[in-house]
Formats: sequence, structure tokens, C-alpha cells
Amino acid sequence: MGRLAMAGPVILLLLCTMCRLALGITDGLLPNGNFERGPLPSQLRGTRVLGSSSIPSWQTSGFVEYIPSGQKQGDMLLVVPEGAYAVRLGNEASIRQRLRGAAPGARYSLTFSAARTCAQAERLNISASGQSGLLAIQTTYSSNGWDSYAWAWVAAVDSSGEVEVSIHNPGVADDPACGPLIDSVAVKALNPPRRTNRNLVKNGDFEEGPYILPGTKWGVLIPSRVVDDHSPLPGWMVESLKAVRYVDGGSFAVPRGRRAVELLAGREGAVAQVVRTVPGRRYALSFTVGDAGNACRGSLVVEAYAGRESVKVAYESEGKGGARRAVLPFRAAAARTRIVFFSSFYSTRSDDLSSLCGPVLDDVAVVSVRAKRG
Ligand SMILES: *[C@@H]1O[C@H](CO)[C@@H](O)[C@H](O)[C@H]1NC(C)=O
Repeated sequence: MGRLAMAGPVILLLLCTMCRLALGITDGLLPNGNFERGPLPSQLRGTRVLGSSSIPSWQTSGFVEYIPSGQKQGDMLLVVPEGAYAVRLGNEASIRQRLRGAAPGARYSLTFSAARTCAQAERLNISASGQSGLLAIQTTYSSNGWDSYAWAWVAAVDSSGEVEVSIHNPGVADDPACGPLIDSVAVKALNPPRRTNRNLVKNGDFEEGPYILPGTKWGVLIPSRVVDDHSPLPGWMVESLKAVRYVDGGSFAVPRGRRAVELLAGREGAVAQVVRTVPGRRYALSFTVGDAGNACRGSLVVEAYAGRESVKVAYESEGKGGARRAVLPFRAAAARTRIVFFSSFYSTRSDDLSSLCGPVLDDVAVVSVRAKRG
């Protein structure tokens, strides 16, 4: 009896350890991912963080600053997108955190917000599980200077059962304080997309993708694959040089479901996927073109390619949300057909000419079209 009574809590403890492992990584902000818990006053010299464990839940190295919202830099006021604090990574500075519960071989995406603070090209090296990607924080796509970025990797768990994710500024600027501000670091497990009998396109509705910070008005930029091989948008690759923006129904108009992509970099930002086809067979590529309800007004044009066949779809946008369906019938020339979408040109928001915008793409399908008999 006494032994049983003792065993209870031990078993419960064991079960909890196991359920924690089984539950894995929770989608959302990392512990203290918004940096609202900061160093003690004694661990700061001005804004500079002293010591490597001064920001709760994080390890830091190099010139890291803890920046309260409203901090002045010269005559520039630094704005923090979420809460009251962010960090700034100066020359060779990095922040790291160890994540428990990652499943080896599973794909995860990291989302974080970043803003440039000096008038120079700034880059961040994101790494986890021996994989890394160099992201350019050069073009601000949103008016307040902040953008969110996504990066994905395949987890390899180390001997302690953990994965370390790191954000590093490899820059060597004259002013050591120059460097991007970082806020709101979040993670999300990515489910592998499947093609169905009805649609040869994987994740054609874009519902599977990186974590979007609730309430952010600028979605998440998905950088081009120049950055990395693992796409944070399962099934899809971002081609060319620039990013596309992943948007959610919370802050944008989305034609169907909860998520879509905004093609905001003209011909320089294309999304693509290779689908399996039977040479000689007829197919229909159908998709929805619309606007994200973000004051992107005027004549928007999406160009769609299926192999060598293409169509230009014009959409008159009032910038208030709306969509139309389009179809490109094609005959497959090979066992694999590349489908590609991009916006014909750049647009800017009518209420903010410094913010890029573009047509929204959603609900992409490729179906085999069988010739009618008789
Ligand atoms: C980025 O960081 C990773 C991991 O520390 C490193 O292996 C890689 O060389 C870095 N890349 C660049 C361009 O600095």
C-alpha cells in the first residue's frame, strides 16, 4: 500500500516527462520570444546587455542591446512592434535559444520580426540543426520599418534532445551599434503537404505555412530560395530574388480559407511548384487572384505559367478585398510541369506609397481534363 502510494507521483512524473516529449514544440512565441522579460539593471550598461545569460530564456553573444520602445537613435525614434521591448544585434552579435521536444526529421519554421536601424544593407544568419540561411534585411516592405521573416529547417536533435536556434548578425559595420532590431521570435511545426486525387498541387490553398504573429499588420515574408532549400511554405518555392508575403485572414482579406500569398515584388518574386503530369495529357490550372484589402489599388496583373504555356490575368483592385477565378488550360509536355506565378509589376499602397503591395494568390489547382466522348 505504502509502496503504491509512493509509485503514484513517480509514475505521474514519468508520464509528464513523456507527454512533454510527445507534445513536442508548441506553435507560437518561444519562451520570452517577445523579449518582454529583460536583464536586471545591473546587467545593462545603457542599453548594452552585459553577460551572456542576462535576457531570460536566451543566450547572447557580441554587442546586444536591449531596446525599449521610444528609444532615440540620433533623431530617429525606435518603434517596437510588439510589447515594449526588442533586442538589437550589433556587429557579430547573436541570440540563441535551445528548444526541447523537436521531432528528429520533422520540419519547423521560425518566424521573427526585424527592422533595419542604419542606412546600410543588413543581413541576418539564421541557423538550427547545422542548417543556416542568410536573410537580407534590405528592403522594407512595410511603412513602420518592421517586417516579419520566415525560415525553415529540418530538425536534427542533439544528444541532449534539443535543437538550438540562433539569429546572428554577421555584419561588421563602423558603428558597432548599427544592426537590426529583433522582436517576436516564434516557431511552428510544418506538416508535409499531400497531393490528392483531385488536385495535383500540394498546399494549393496555402493553408500550411509559417507562424503568423497574431495582430501583425504585415504578414510574414517568405524569402527566395536563394536563402535556403527548405521552404517555410510547404510544397512551394519562392523563386527569383525577392520575397513574397504570407498573409492571414486576421489582418488581410483572404479569398478562401485563412491564408494566401501576396505577390509584392513584381517579376522578382515568384512562387513555383513542380507537379507530376502525363506527357500529352490535357490539364487545367485554376487559381484565384484578388487583393488583400490593404489599399493596393489599380490594375493588378498576375502571370501564370504551366510549362511553356502562360496566361496574364488582370484584376481591377479597389484595395478593399475581392477576387476572381482564372483558368489556364494546358497540355503537358513532360512528366513534370513547373507552374509559376508572379505579379507583372510593382505596386504600392494608395494610403502609403512607401509600402509595396500586390495581387493575392490563393486556391491553386491542377486537374486532369479528360476529353469528352461522343
Ligand atoms: C551562418 O551560421 C552558420 C552556423 O553558425 C555557419 O555555419 C555559416 O557559415 C554562417 N553563414 C554565414 C554566411 O555567415
